[in-house]
Amino acid sequence: MKNILVTGGAGYIGSHVVVELIEAGYHPVILDNFSTSEKSSIDRLEHLTGQHIVYYEADYRDHKMLQQILRIERIDGIIHIAAYKAVGESVAEPLKYYQNNVAGFMTLLETAIDAGVHNIVFSSSAAVYGNPPTAQVTEDEACNPENPYGWSKFMCDVMLRDTHKANPHLKKTSLRYFNVVGSHGSYKIGESPKGAPQNLLPIIVRAVKENKPFQVFGDDYDTHDGTCLRDYIHVVDLAKAHVAALQKMEKQENGSFEIYNLGTGTPTSVLELIKAFEKVNGVKVPYEIGPRRAGDPVSYFAVPEKAIRELGWQAKHTIEDAVRSSWQWQLAQS
Ligand code: WQD
Repeated sequence: MKNILVTGGAGYIGSHVVVELIEAGYHPVILDNFSTSEKSSIDRLEHLTGQHIVYYEADYRDHKMLQQILRIERIDGIIHIAAYKAVGESVAEPLKYYQNNVAGFMTLLETAIDAGVHNIVFSSSAAVYGNPPTAQVTEDEACNPENPYGWSKFMCDVMLRDTHKANPHLKKTSLRYFNVVGSHGSYKIGESPKGAPQNLLPIIVRAVKENKPFQVFGDDYDTHDGTCLRDYIHVVDLAKAHVAALQKMEKQENGSFEIYNLGTGTPTSVLELIKAFEKVNGVKVPYEIGPRRAGDPVSYFAVPEKAIRELGWQAKHTIEDAVRSSWQWQLAQS
């Protein structure tokens, strides 16, 4: 298996996956409609890898176009990352999320099966767990998403599960991302959110860059420092897990469907992330303590043992690596 289609391959996570695929000897083909990513990402990838990057500016929901790409590029496997992922937007526009993330994935799955592509890696999310009763989350945790974004990812996991029963020869892996942070150590690719950043670390970067305080959503939680705990996983570790998933499926004789939580297994609080950012980068992070954000779980983080055992993968980068690379990537762009 060598030719791998990466939908959303020009985006933050997708571009890091493309780098790791090339390093592992695969031939990635990017499919991206650049709705939430920049075309300049392709140039950055070519500069970083020294290789020509094949890409198609298209929407994965376009059945005919997808069918042609799978045939022309002789695609053996698909890593499906393209999706909308802004939690707040999903609450305001749920049908936009179900149309793109769920119906779109349905089209992609049908097209892939028709084209005889037997290896699928799906970008799922810890958001499927919602507000889990226990902070440490295994793949067996009940899924009760708190928002349409989380539901859209859970519905895709269910489609993979049920497709497996009808097509037992298919090999499918769902990777449930915890909180993805950081940038490639070359500082040549990284997170460049179109519009306002949605997640904590890029919000911290913007606060320091613009010297405008951001709001810490509550410091009165029942945690060691009063702020929420999350499992922040470095994007390069996350990208390597996608390669590990492909390599596992390559070795398998029969079809499969497996789900893996991708996290470090170590919780970090909001204030701890701020302090690490200040210490590593020698800057002051401007922030104010504000009210809690509705729907925020107090604490959840991954139990990564299944991925460690079955994928031979483990997160290696530290929080310090994440805050350093995020800031250096920002400086490299200014
Ligand atoms: C992290 C922590 C906030 C912003 C989301 C979604 C989903 C998933 C991961 C893809 C929380 C606090 C944040 C701010 C703050 N991604 N915070 N001030 O909500 O854990 O998860 O991202 O699948 O998109 O589930 O991430 O970065 O929004 O928040 O205090 O301005 O930072 O309260 O504790 P979240 P987040």
